[in-house]
Amino acid sequence: MKILVLHGPNLNLFGRRETAIYGLTTFADINRAIEEQARELGVEVEIFQSNHEGALLDKLHERIDDCDGCVINPGALTHYSIALHDCLKAVPFPTVEVHLSNVARREPFRHQSFVSPAAEGTIAGLGWRGYLLALRWLVESRQ
Ligand code: DQA
Repeated sequence: MKILVLHGPNLNLFGRRETAIYGLTTFADINRAIEEQARELGVEVEIFQSNHEGALLDKLHERIDDCDGCVINPGALTHYSIALHDCLKAVPFPTVEVHLSNVARREPFRHQSFVSPAAEGTIAGLGWRGYLLALRWLVESRQ
């Protein structure tokens, strides 16, 4: 089983960005935890981060026939990217949306997600462990 983990704009700064909201766990630590969990679950993960919307779309297109599920934290693209919405609907595999923070408790502009309608489910507010829960769900729900 192959799972694509996508991180959107500014997420490479986790660990040093608004730490009161996102915590001190670094981006590298998060990715290590994802890779460790993938090993435990016996699945392959590809992790990709970009600050560019089109690069994330290109990665999804590239893996359209070679992926069993996607975990995505789209960052701010969540709140405005119709292109990402369309792309997640176009690919044949399921997606789980992840946010470290509880976006529903934050500014009103974060309450709208263009990704949620294209995702199987959303995990928000549980910090970096949300990625691990999403990965486990994708694997277990397909076994
Ligand atoms: C985020 C929430 C978004 O609103 C924000 O733009 C981010 C991070 C999160 O993980 O909580 O960049 O996706």
